[in-house]
Amino acid sequence: MEHTWPCNPEKMEGFIEKAAQTLLKKFSEQKPQGIFIGRLDASSPRRYYKSLATNLRGRTIPLFTQAVGHLKDVEDQDPKKDSLFCLLGREGLFCGIQSPLAANGFYPGGTKFISQKAAHTISRAGAKIAEALHYLKLHRTLPKAGSHWLELGACPGGMTSELLERNYQVTAVDRAPLDVRLKNRKGLHFSKADVTRFNPPVKAKYDAILCDMNGEAEISLGQVIRLSQYFRKGGLVVFTLKTPGTTGYQEMNTLFHTAAGSAKNSGLKLLASTHLTYNRHEFTLFFERNY
Ligand SMILES: C[S@@+](CC[C@H](N)C(=O)[O-])C[C@H]1O[C@@H](n2cnc3c(N)ncnc32)[C@H](O)[C@@H]1O
Repeated sequence: MEHTWPCNPEKMEGFIEKAAQTLLKKFSEQKPQGIFIGRLDASSPRRYYKSLATNLRGRTIPLFTQAVGHLKDVEDQDPKKDSLFCLLGREGLFCGIQSPLAANGFYPGGTKFISQKAAHTISRAGAKIAEALHYLKLHRTLPKAGSHWLELGACPGGMTSELLERNYQVTAVDRAPLDVRLKNRKGLHFSKADVTRFNPPVKAKYDAILCDMNGEAEISLGQVIRLSQYFRKGGLVVFTLKTPGTTGYQEMNTLFHTAAGSAKNSGLKLLASTHLTYNRHEFTLFFERNY
Protein backbone atom coordinates (compact mmCIF):
# COMPACT_ATOMS: atom_id res chain seq x y z
CA MET A 1 0.00 0.00 0.00
CA GLU A 2 1.44 3.34 -0.93
CA HIS A 3 0.15 6.54 0.52
CA THR A 4 1.04 9.49 2.71
CA TRP A 5 0.20 8.90 6.35
CA PRO A 6 -1.89 11.70 7.86
CA CYS A 7 -1.07 13.65 11.03
CA ASN A 8 -4.65 14.56 11.82
CA PRO A 9 -5.83 11.98 14.44
CA GLU A 10 -9.27 11.50 12.84
CA LYS A 11 -7.85 11.00 9.39
CA MET A 12 -5.25 8.65 10.86
CA GLU A 13 -8.01 6.49 12.35
CA GLY A 14 -9.54 6.13 8.89
CA PHE A 15 -6.21 5.19 7.38
CA ILE A 16 -5.50 2.54 10.02
CA GLU A 17 -8.95 1.04 9.52
CA LYS A 18 -8.44 0.92 5.77
CA ALA A 19 -4.99 -0.64 6.11
CA ALA A 20 -6.28 -3.27 8.59
CA GLN A 21 -9.12 -4.22 6.23
CA THR A 22 -6.65 -4.51 3.35
CA LEU A 23 -4.45 -6.86 5.38
CA LEU A 24 -7.50 -8.98 6.21
CA LYS A 25 -8.56 -9.17 2.58
CA LYS A 26 -5.11 -10.00 1.26
CA PHE A 27 -3.74 -12.35 3.91
CA SER A 28 -6.45 -13.96 6.08
CA GLU A 29 -6.87 -16.97 3.77
CA GLN A 30 -3.22 -17.88 4.29
CA LYS A 31 -3.92 -18.21 8.04
CA PRO A 32 -0.73 -16.69 9.47
CA GLN A 33 0.21 -17.87 12.97
CA GLY A 34 0.75 -14.24 14.06
CA ILE A 35 0.91 -10.65 12.85
CA PHE A 36 3.94 -8.48 13.52
CA ILE A 37 4.20 -4.89 12.36
CA GLY A 38 7.31 -2.72 12.62
CA ARG A 39 8.87 0.44 11.25
CA LEU A 40 10.77 0.58 7.97
CA ASP A 41 13.34 2.82 9.62
CA ALA A 42 13.89 1.19 13.01
CA SER A 43 16.59 3.72 13.91
CA SER A 44 14.30 6.74 13.52
CA PRO A 45 14.03 8.69 16.80
CA ARG A 46 10.47 9.78 15.86
CA ARG A 47 7.73 7.82 17.63
CA TYR A 48 5.15 8.51 14.92
CA TYR A 49 5.64 5.32 12.88
CA LYS A 50 6.19 3.25 16.00
CA SER A 51 2.79 4.19 17.39
CA LEU A 52 1.24 3.81 13.94
CA ALA A 53 2.64 0.25 13.76
CA THR A 54 1.33 -0.56 17.25
CA ASN A 55 -2.11 0.87 16.42
CA LEU A 56 -2.32 -0.98 13.14
CA ARG A 57 -1.38 -4.27 14.81
CA GLY A 58 -3.98 -3.67 17.53
CA ARG A 59 -6.63 -2.99 14.91
CA THR A 60 -5.69 -5.88 12.60
CA ILE A 61 -5.41 -8.76 15.08
CA PRO A 62 -9.11 -8.83 16.11
CA LEU A 63 -10.10 -9.02 12.43
CA PHE A 64 -8.21 -12.29 11.95
CA THR A 65 -8.96 -15.60 13.70
CA GLN A 66 -8.47 -15.62 17.47
CA ALA A 67 -5.26 -17.65 17.17
CA VAL A 68 -3.11 -14.76 15.86
CA GLY A 69 -3.69 -12.80 19.07
CA HIS A 70 -2.18 -15.55 21.22
CA LEU A 71 1.37 -14.75 20.16
CA LYS A 72 2.48 -11.97 22.47
CA ASP A 73 6.20 -12.20 21.94
CA VAL A 74 8.04 -12.73 18.65
CA GLU A 75 9.86 -15.72 20.16
CA ASP A 76 6.49 -17.44 20.73
CA GLN A 77 6.29 -18.04 16.96
CA ASP A 78 6.83 -21.52 15.58
CA PRO A 79 9.92 -20.83 13.40
CA LYS A 80 8.56 -23.11 10.66
CA LYS A 81 5.03 -21.69 10.43
CA ASP A 82 4.06 -18.66 8.38
CA SER A 83 3.57 -15.26 9.97
CA LEU A 84 2.37 -11.99 8.49
CA PHE A 85 5.22 -9.48 8.69
CA CYS A 86 4.58 -5.81 7.89
CA LEU A 87 6.82 -2.77 7.77
CA LEU A 88 5.55 0.76 7.54
CA GLY A 89 7.12 4.13 7.06
CA ARG A 90 7.05 7.28 4.99
CA GLU A 91 7.28 5.17 1.83
CA GLY A 92 4.15 3.12 2.56
CA LEU A 93 3.15 -0.24 4.03
CA PHE A 94 5.02 -3.36 2.90
CA CYS A 95 3.74 -6.82 3.88
CA GLY A 96 4.50 -10.45 3.26
CA ILE A 97 3.83 -13.93 4.57
CA GLN A 98 6.87 -16.00 5.49
CA SER A 99 8.06 -18.31 8.24
CA PRO A 100 10.59 -16.78 10.69
CA LEU A 101 13.04 -19.53 9.67
CA ALA A 102 12.80 -18.61 5.96
CA ALA A 103 12.88 -14.91 6.83
CA ASN A 104 16.01 -15.50 8.98
CA GLY A 105 14.51 -13.64 11.95
CA PHE A 106 11.57 -13.38 14.32
CA TYR A 107 10.98 -9.66 13.76
CA PRO A 108 9.61 -7.73 10.78
CA GLY A 109 12.99 -6.21 9.82
CA GLY A 110 15.64 -5.52 12.43
CA THR A 111 16.31 -7.74 15.39
CA LYS A 112 15.95 -7.90 19.14
CA PHE A 113 17.11 -4.73 20.88
CA ILE A 114 19.68 -5.62 23.52
CA SER A 115 20.43 -2.95 26.06
CA GLN A 116 24.11 -2.47 26.72
CA LYS A 117 23.36 -0.50 29.85
CA ALA A 118 22.00 -3.39 31.90
CA ALA A 119 23.38 -3.81 35.42
CA HIS A 120 25.18 -7.01 34.39
CA THR A 121 26.75 -5.58 31.18
CA ILE A 122 30.53 -6.01 31.18
CA SER A 123 31.43 -5.41 27.54
CA ARG A 124 29.88 -4.85 24.11
CA ALA A 125 30.46 -8.55 23.31
CA GLY A 126 27.67 -9.52 25.71
CA ALA A 127 25.10 -8.33 23.18
CA LYS A 128 26.52 -10.78 20.63
CA ILE A 129 25.74 -13.88 22.68
CA ALA A 130 22.39 -12.44 23.80
CA GLU A 131 21.44 -11.92 20.15
CA ALA A 132 22.98 -15.26 19.14
CA LEU A 133 20.80 -17.11 21.67
CA HIS A 134 17.72 -15.25 20.43
CA TYR A 135 18.62 -16.15 16.82
CA LEU A 136 19.37 -19.78 17.69
CA LYS A 137 15.71 -20.30 18.64
CA LEU A 138 14.97 -20.24 14.90
CA HIS A 139 16.90 -23.49 14.61
CA ARG A 140 16.68 -25.39 17.89
CA THR A 141 15.87 -25.12 21.57
CA LEU A 142 18.49 -23.52 23.79
CA PRO A 143 20.58 -25.55 26.24
CA LYS A 144 18.56 -25.73 29.43
CA ALA A 145 19.43 -23.72 32.56
CA GLY A 146 22.28 -25.37 34.45
CA SER A 147 23.99 -26.53 31.24
CA HIS A 148 27.77 -26.23 31.24
CA TRP A 149 29.43 -23.88 28.71
CA LEU A 150 33.15 -23.89 27.94
CA GLU A 151 34.05 -20.37 26.85
CA LEU A 152 37.26 -19.77 24.90
CA GLY A 153 38.65 -16.22 24.76
CA ALA A 154 36.24 -15.02 27.43
CA CYS A 155 37.78 -11.81 28.75
CA PRO A 156 36.85 -9.27 29.91
CA GLY A 157 33.68 -11.33 30.35
CA GLY A 158 30.75 -9.68 28.56
CA MET A 159 29.52 -12.99 27.17
CA THR A 160 30.31 -14.84 30.41
CA SER A 161 28.10 -12.41 32.26
CA GLU A 162 25.20 -13.02 29.84
CA LEU A 163 25.56 -16.79 30.21
CA LEU A 164 25.62 -16.56 34.01
CA GLU A 165 22.51 -14.33 33.89
CA ARG A 166 20.74 -17.24 32.17
CA ASN A 167 21.75 -19.59 34.98
CA TYR A 168 24.29 -21.50 32.95
CA GLN A 169 27.53 -22.87 34.40
CA VAL A 170 30.59 -21.43 32.69
CA THR A 171 34.20 -22.51 32.48
CA ALA A 172 35.89 -19.45 31.00
CA VAL A 173 39.42 -19.61 29.55
CA ASP A 174 41.56 -16.64 28.58
CA ARG A 175 45.16 -15.51 29.04
CA ALA A 176 43.87 -12.01 29.96
CA PRO A 177 42.18 -11.23 33.29
CA LEU A 178 38.44 -11.38 33.82
CA ASP A 179 36.55 -8.25 34.90
CA VAL A 180 36.58 -7.99 38.71
CA ARG A 181 32.79 -7.69 38.78
CA LEU A 182 32.65 -11.41 37.90
CA LYS A 183 34.81 -12.46 40.84
CA ASN A 184 33.20 -15.23 42.94
CA ARG A 185 30.15 -15.43 40.68
CA LYS A 186 28.14 -18.58 41.28
CA GLY A 187 28.49 -21.08 38.44
CA LEU A 188 31.74 -19.59 37.10
CA HIS A 189 35.13 -21.24 36.94
CA PHE A 190 37.91 -19.16 35.38
CA SER A 191 41.13 -20.58 34.01
CA LYS A 192 43.76 -17.95 33.23
CA ALA A 193 45.58 -19.85 30.52
CA ASP A 194 46.40 -20.01 26.86
CA VAL A 195 43.54 -21.91 25.23
CA THR A 196 46.02 -24.01 23.23
CA ARG A 197 47.38 -25.36 26.53
CA PHE A 198 44.07 -25.72 28.35
CA ASN A 199 42.99 -29.25 29.21
CA PRO A 200 39.67 -29.81 30.98
CA PRO A 201 39.75 -31.45 34.40
CA VAL A 202 39.33 -35.23 34.55
CA LYS A 203 35.76 -36.34 33.78
CA ALA A 204 34.73 -32.82 32.68
CA LYS A 205 31.85 -32.77 30.16
CA TYR A 206 30.37 -29.71 28.43
CA ASP A 207 27.00 -29.04 26.80
CA ALA A 208 28.21 -26.12 24.70
CA ILE A 209 31.35 -24.31 23.58
CA LEU A 210 31.39 -20.58 22.94
CA CYS A 211 34.45 -19.23 21.15
CA ASP A 212 35.09 -15.50 20.66
CA MET A 213 38.91 -15.75 20.53
CA ASN A 214 40.61 -13.18 18.35
CA GLY A 215 43.38 -14.19 15.98
CA GLU A 216 43.41 -16.66 13.11
CA ALA A 217 40.03 -18.35 12.62
CA GLU A 218 41.74 -21.61 11.75
CA ILE A 219 43.56 -21.69 15.11
CA SER A 220 40.43 -20.78 17.12
CA LEU A 221 38.31 -23.37 15.33
CA GLY A 222 41.10 -25.93 15.77
CA GLN A 223 40.78 -25.45 19.54
CA VAL A 224 36.99 -25.78 19.40
CA ILE A 225 37.38 -29.04 17.48
CA ARG A 226 40.00 -30.33 19.93
CA LEU A 227 37.84 -29.52 22.94
CA SER A 228 34.60 -30.81 21.38
CA GLN A 229 35.75 -34.31 22.43
CA TYR A 230 34.58 -33.27 25.92
CA PHE A 231 30.99 -32.72 24.74
CA ARG A 232 27.97 -34.47 26.15
CA LYS A 233 25.65 -35.81 23.42
CA GLY A 234 24.30 -33.11 21.09
CA GLY A 235 26.89 -30.48 22.04
CA LEU A 236 26.41 -26.97 20.65
CA VAL A 237 29.09 -24.61 19.33
CA VAL A 238 28.65 -20.84 18.97
CA PHE A 239 31.68 -19.54 17.10
CA THR A 240 32.53 -16.02 15.98
CA LEU A 241 34.33 -16.25 12.67
CA LYS A 242 36.65 -13.23 12.68
CA THR A 243 37.41 -11.71 9.30
CA PRO A 244 40.16 -9.11 9.81
CA GLY A 245 42.60 -9.08 6.94
CA THR A 246 40.07 -10.37 4.41
CA THR A 247 39.54 -8.04 1.50
CA GLY A 248 36.20 -8.64 -0.15
CA TYR A 249 33.47 -11.22 -0.20
CA GLN A 250 35.42 -13.90 -2.12
CA GLU A 251 38.03 -14.17 0.61
CA MET A 252 35.29 -14.17 3.23
CA ASN A 253 33.47 -16.95 1.39
CA THR A 254 36.66 -19.00 1.27
CA LEU A 255 37.25 -18.41 4.98
CA PHE A 256 33.68 -19.50 5.75
CA HIS A 257 33.78 -22.64 3.55
CA THR A 258 37.17 -23.69 4.92
CA ALA A 259 35.89 -23.32 8.51
CA ALA A 260 32.61 -25.14 7.80
CA GLY A 261 34.56 -27.89 5.98
CA SER A 262 37.01 -28.56 8.81
CA ALA A 263 34.19 -28.55 11.37
CA LYS A 264 32.22 -31.04 9.27
CA ASN A 265 35.24 -33.34 8.94
CA SER A 266 35.44 -33.35 12.73
CA GLY A 267 31.79 -34.29 13.27
CA LEU A 268 30.41 -30.78 13.82
CA LYS A 269 27.38 -30.11 11.66
CA LEU A 270 26.74 -26.50 10.60
CA LEU A 271 23.35 -25.55 11.95
CA ALA A 272 23.29 -21.91 10.87
CA SER A 273 25.52 -18.98 9.99
CA THR A 274 24.62 -15.33 10.02
CA HIS A 275 25.83 -11.79 10.49
CA LEU A 276 24.19 -10.59 13.68
CA THR A 277 23.36 -6.93 14.19
CA TYR A 278 25.85 -6.87 17.06
CA ASN A 279 28.63 -8.52 14.97
CA ARG A 280 31.19 -6.20 13.44
CA HIS A 281 33.95 -7.69 11.26
CA GLU A 282 32.88 -11.25 11.93
CA PHE A 283 30.09 -13.76 11.44
CA THR A 284 28.43 -16.04 13.95
CA LEU A 285 28.43 -19.76 13.15
CA PHE A 286 26.43 -22.40 15.01
CA PHE A 287 27.45 -26.07 14.97
CA GLU A 288 26.01 -29.14 16.61
CA ARG A 289 27.55 -32.50 17.28
CA ASN A 290 24.88 -35.04 16.56
CA TYR A 291 26.35 -38.02 18.37
C1 LIG B 1 37.24 -10.36 21.40
S1 LIG B 1 37.99 -10.72 22.91
C2 LIG B 1 36.74 -11.63 23.72
C3 LIG B 1 35.67 -10.80 24.34
C4 LIG B 1 34.77 -11.63 25.22
N1 LIG B 1 34.04 -12.60 24.45
C5 LIG B 1 33.81 -10.84 26.06
O1 LIG B 1 32.63 -11.18 26.03
O2 LIG B 1 34.22 -9.92 26.76
C6 LIG B 1 39.10 -11.98 22.48
C7 LIG B 1 39.82 -12.63 23.62
O3 LIG B 1 40.47 -13.80 23.14
C8 LIG B 1 41.61 -14.00 23.95
N2 LIG B 1 42.51 -14.94 23.27
C9 LIG B 1 42.88 -14.97 21.97
N3 LIG B 1 43.70 -16.01 21.74
C10 LIG B 1 43.85 -16.65 22.93
C11 LIG B 1 44.56 -17.81 23.34
N4 LIG B 1 45.31 -18.52 22.49
N5 LIG B 1 44.46 -18.20 24.63
C12 LIG B 1 43.73 -17.50 25.52
N6 LIG B 1 43.03 -16.38 25.19
C13 LIG B 1 43.08 -15.97 23.91
C14 LIG B 1 42.18 -12.61 24.14
O4 LIG B 1 42.99 -12.56 25.28
C15 LIG B 1 40.88 -11.77 24.28
O5 LIG B 1 40.58 -11.56 25.64
